[in-house]
Amino acid sequence: MYKMASNLVSIRRRNGEGRGAGGGRYEKTPENVSDLGAKTETKLYNSVLELVGNTPLIKLNKLPRDHGVPCEIYAKCEFFNPSGSIKDRIALSVIQDARQAGVVNNDTEFVEASSGNTGIGIALNAAVSENKCIIITEDNSSEEANTINLLGAEVIQAKNKDAIAYRLKDENPDKVVILNQGDNPVNQRTHYENTAEEIVSALGDVDMVVMGTGTGDTMTGIGLKLKERNPKCVVVVAEPDGSVVFNTKDKEHPFLVEGIGGSNLSITIDKSVADHFEVVTDQESFLMSREMAKKEGLLCGGSSGTAMAAAIKAVKALNVGPGQRVVVILPDGIRNYMSKFVSDQWMEAHRFIEPPAHTMKWWKRPITDIYLRRSYPKLNKDSTCVHALRAMNTHNVNLAVIVDDLGGFVGVVTKDNLRNRATNPTKLPGQDSENFDFEGAVFDNLDRHVFTLAEKSEAGHPTVGLLSRMLDITPFVIIVNKGTSDENDFFIPTGVVTSDDILDYII
Ligand SMILES: Cc1ncc(COP(=O)(O)O)c(C=O)c1O
Repeated sequence: MYKMASNLVSIRRRNGEGRGAGGGRYEKTPENVSDLGAKTETKLYNSVLELVGNTPLIKLNKLPRDHGVPCEIYAKCEFFNPSGSIKDRIALSVIQDARQAGVVNNDTEFVEASSGNTGIGIALNAAVSENKCIIITEDNSSEEANTINLLGAEVIQAKNKDAIAYRLKDENPDKVVILNQGDNPVNQRTHYENTAEEIVSALGDVDMVVMGTGTGDTMTGIGLKLKERNPKCVVVVAEPDGSVVFNTKDKEHPFLVEGIGGSNLSITIDKSVADHFEVVTDQESFLMSREMAKKEGLLCGGSSGTAMAAAIKAVKALNVGPGQRVVVILPDGIRNYMSKFVSDQWMEAHRFIEPPAHTMKWWKRPITDIYLRRSYPKLNKDSTCVHALRAMNTHNVNLAVIVDDLGGFVGVVTKDNLRNRATNPTKLPGQDSENFDFEGAVFDNLDRHVFTLAEKSEAGHPTVGLLSRMLDITPFVIIVNKGTSDENDFFIPTGVVTSDDILDYII
């Protein structure tokens, strides 16, 4: 069937009767000459590593217009690097530097504690150079861990990542090299000599550059070079709301954007290169990443949204005018976030966007209408896993809700997660697989992928429609109520909803 259909298409095209106004044969008209058609020069590369760096600077069109921004904004698209992030640059240069210094040779084993883009970048380099590579992550089921594994590196899941890395180094000091991205001066130099030079060679002097900081190497390297070229260039840091690296007067709290921000200890460089910072909430970050996809076709990650949202704020605050040039660094693409902000349901679950407006009678009813058919055990965080399993069996459920001494929600343990941990044990090279410790505390074995929903918020009760959308991406939702103590707000779990409850309610 398929073959016949495709033959048919090619015959029709040959006769000039194909789709489109001009028939099947391609004819050059002013409308259909795409830039792609004009670019026929194909370069050859000896390995994928030759494609690291030299990422495109793309002028934004609709986004500045829609935000009332008069200056020119250029996105430095680091997701064009082969493994999808800015970290390819530092992985390549750190390894090259170590090779030149004689620290790395063909027998070297790279060991790095990183569950993010750095681990992927090192694994990419190791894949090409045929060096053994071990990346230690906290979660071996994440999208990043799967990518590292696909690149042929060994993924070790362990709680104390750094300690394991140094243990592997101690066991095999001649072979193992820890590249240690955080403390390596080569990183900053790479951005000074390469990333920033690329910007200068494409744009000349730049009036403002905006980016987030993880280690801070990108900001320092790029900032120093652009200021050398134009001392008036303003270096702006995009600070996630909850991070206190630059926003030191605010209270630190968790945030969802990945790769940037943290406590004021997390940065390893000189903060004085930055002139200005803008605080960006998770919602602003993710909405901006999605807007960049929709309006500019840029499939970039969450921290890229933070950087762009900060750029728009800074341009307005500092009156950057027509003809002035702003560069925004977009560190990675959407690949690590496919089940996160890329998903509408995930955005709805975090109350960042509204669920679709369906018209079924029950869709807009409050969740308090739902009768929860099952009760789940509620255990203190110091309980053991064995205790939790027994309690689940008594309740005939596969989940236990874990609370602290105040009764505040801490997380859940599930049979699925405990089974996963017990059957995918930590295995260090040359050693036996460690048996899972079922006598260990549930607190150390919480399920990482839990969705909660506050029974009531400032906006009122959430709807059954929202709850059903959340159940599209998770098998259960924990319903919580806000409680307050002298110190902090906390959330008291009041129930667990699954598809059973929704089906009972709507049928
Ligand atoms: C997604 C993302 N954004 C931004 C950064 C910041 O880069 P740097 O460590 O040079 O500050 C990183 C670094 O890991 C990252 O992964």
